[in-house]
Amino acid sequence: MALDTKKTSPPHCKGTTPNTEKGKVTYCTDLEKSVITTNFDRRGWIQVGPDDEWNFYWSFIQNCRTLFSIESGYRMNDNQMINHFPNHYELSRKDLLVKNIKRYRKELERDGNPLAEKTDVILPSGQVVTRYIHLDFIPVTYVLPADYNMFVEEYRKSPQSTWIMKPCGKSQGAGIFLINKLSKLKKWSRDAKTVFHPQLSSKECYVISRYIDNPLLIGGKKFDLRLYVLVTSFRPLKAYLFQHGFCRFCTVKYDTSVTELDNMYVHLTNVSVQKYGGDYNSLHGGKMSIQNFRLYLEGTRGRAVTEKLFAEMQWLIVHSLKAVAPVMANDRHCFECYGYDIIIDNNLKPWLVEVNASPALQSTTHNDRILKYKLIDNIVSVVVPPDGIPDARWNKIPSEEALGDFDVLIDEELMEREDINSRYNKIHRVKP
Ligand SMILES: Nc1ncnc2c1ncn2[C@@H]1O[C@H](COP(=O)(O)OP(=O)(O)O)[C@@H](O)[C@H]1O
Ligand SMILES: [Mg+2]
Repeated sequence: MALDTKKTSPPHCKGTTPNTEKGKVTYCTDLEKSVITTNFDRRGWIQVGPDDEWNFYWSFIQNCRTLFSIESGYRMNDNQMINHFPNHYELSRKDLLVKNIKRYRKELERDGNPLAEKTDVILPSGQVVTRYIHLDFIPVTYVLPADYNMFVEEYRKSPQSTWIMKPCGKSQGAGIFLINKLSKLKKWSRDAKTVFHPQLSSKECYVISRYIDNPLLIGGKKFDLRLYVLVTSFRPLKAYLFQHGFCRFCTVKYDTSVTELDNMYVHLTNVSVQKYGGDYNSLHGGKMSIQNFRLYLEGTRGRAVTEKLFAEMQWLIVHSLKAVAPVMANDRHCFECYGYDIIIDNNLKPWLVEVNASPALQSTTHNDRILKYKLIDNIVSVVVPPDGIPDARWNKIPSEEALGDFDVLIDEELMEREDINSRYNKIHRVKP
């Protein structure tokens, strides 16, 4: 979920004409951090306030929503771009992400799409359950209180398993706890007096997910991956994966014993949680680069399975985006960089845990600072046309050079073009 929900004064609501004719790009930012300002200043862009004529706005989620609200009366012109899609929550809110992925799978299934093929899986309890073969990338999840009965049914299939409760509207590990008994959930619900309350606001609802209790461990410690994904359009889908993700480690060894169930230093990989752990190392910040992780895996498990894992992570990202594409307000002024949280289990299967619409940009280490600076620089080079002036009319097909350290995950427009070309070539017998 969002980190930067802090409100600043929303932009003044007036239609403006940015001063790109004078050759100067103006920017506005709600986040007064050097990772943003130094980056934009270096491009020769000029900082202005939200009420001024801006071309590029690095906004907080709430201010972006205000700007797009009907009441604001604000209309962006062609030379304005902003770093969020107004209803990003379809992807970044834990309950909506699950709802959209479930809907997407059902639709594919209804259409007889082979992507939605299913198979029977035997659980450790001996129970046989039916799972999607290609689209089983989120842990089984229910929204509470709405899906309580379905949850209980699933719980009873393997009553010895552990579940993780997460508030839909919070982030950074806040309000999360593990349960291994239905009675614990019932007790919590009585104490919190929320779960069964009929008029719960979205902020008070929870998701309950099957806890991935067999995570891949390195040095005996649990970790998850943080990957950055830039989306410049949802229809057609255009998405890019940043090459410099990282692993975030727990500070203490992984331990599944019941006595450690409440020890969040064992179970949650959030840096915001781990930095308060006694063994937190401020030099590496509990982080390992994805490149080193890849080398480690190749060395310990082999190249082929490592390749497969990385391909599966890309697959998972693309399908999570396809799942929300139909419901996203695909405004051409918008782009967004998502922080994907992925857990890998000890069978090297990746699981999508959540998607953040405003991943933390503050740095905990020197390497972190370099990475985040590069990320912002690279985002701008992908979203801004070759002449360097923000333009919502641009076809959003960046050059190889502009892509920098982003890899194309998917570009449906280019795929369509290639398809047309290859069909044309077949018809006219032109060798490819
Ligand atoms: N289903 C799960 N199985 C195992 N660990 C999980 C699961 N869901 C979340 N976690 C752990 O909890 C952390 C926080 O969960 P997340 O969904 O990312 O919420 P938040 O918004 O608080 O970051 C994750 O980074 C991961 O370490
Ligand atoms: Mg998270």
